[in-house]
Amino acid sequence: MAGSPPTVMAVVAIGLALLLAGAGPAAAQNCGCQPDFCCSKFGYCGQSYDYCGPGCQSGPCIGSGGSSGGGSSGGSGGANVASVVTDAFFNGIKNQAAGGCEGKNFYTRSAFLDAANKYSGFAHGGSEVQGKREIAAFFAHVTHETGHFCYISEINKSNRYCDPNNRQWPCAAGKYYYGRGPLQISWNYNYGPAGRDIGFDGLGNPDIVAQNAGIAFKTALWFWMNNVHRVMPQGFGATTRAINGALECNGNNPAQMNARVGYYRQYCQQLGVDPGPNLTC
Ligand SMILES: *[C@@H]1O[C@H](CO)[C@@H](O)[C@H](O)[C@H]1NC(C)=O
Repeated sequence: MAGSPPTVMAVVAIGLALLLAGAGPAAAQNCGCQPDFCCSKFGYCGQSYDYCGPGCQSGPCIGSGGSSGGGSSGGSGGANVASVVTDAFFNGIKNQAAGGCEGKNFYTRSAFLDAANKYSGFAHGGSEVQGKREIAAFFAHVTHETGHFCYISEINKSNRYCDPNNRQWPCAAGKYYYGRGPLQISWNYNYGPAGRDIGFDGLGNPDIVAQNAGIAFKTALWFWMNNVHRVMPQGFGATTRAINGALECNGNNPAQMNARVGYYRQYCQQLGVDPGPNLTC
């Protein structure tokens, strides 16, 4: 890919790396709800059944006895992803990528919705406004990482992103785990578990993430649900910290950090929700 290789790509990959190197898998102990509030299975604080019902982690949980019946057909508990992420919203982002971009004929709304179907906790667990904020946040980061869906793979493909000390997810010979897909999933220790959860050989065939848009979006939402989703209630700044905090937060790269905020504000406005507090990090 000629032209200026976006340093963003490398930055993100490294960011994810640093994050995951230190932080263990999400256990969502940081709910920190007030005494009368439940910590939902997604790490949100609240008092309704959505929070205190099945999966409730702490607080006055209702317990999971009885059938989940009820049959309430949604409404509360989050945003309807398919109705929020319309063709107009999705293509409004992608149309800003130049015609020759490799991602232009790769990323599709239906592939995204397919992935969101699998990770149904996405945009759920809180109020509808919170759900819409989460959608805005996800697409803000994706916009930043891929240049409005221009890029599929990290530009600089010379780095393996192989952590040889990770015995659980050993690198396969000759395979490279550089950034691929909407959130540029990187490193053997992310490709491995993402592949296991999604149903592909993450260590042996990382390239499939750049070949199959459904898998690509699933890796992005896998990463999101494991690392970002639970910090949504803290504000957009916390999501940037979860994705690339070591390189962008605390004044390390305010331009990159603010670019993400700009997209987030824009998408919140499009979706008709207030962006909420604590946008920076
Ligand atoms: C790609 O990454 C390698 C290793 O970090 C670096 O030495 C090289 O300069 C990079 N290439 C480009 C074009 O940035």
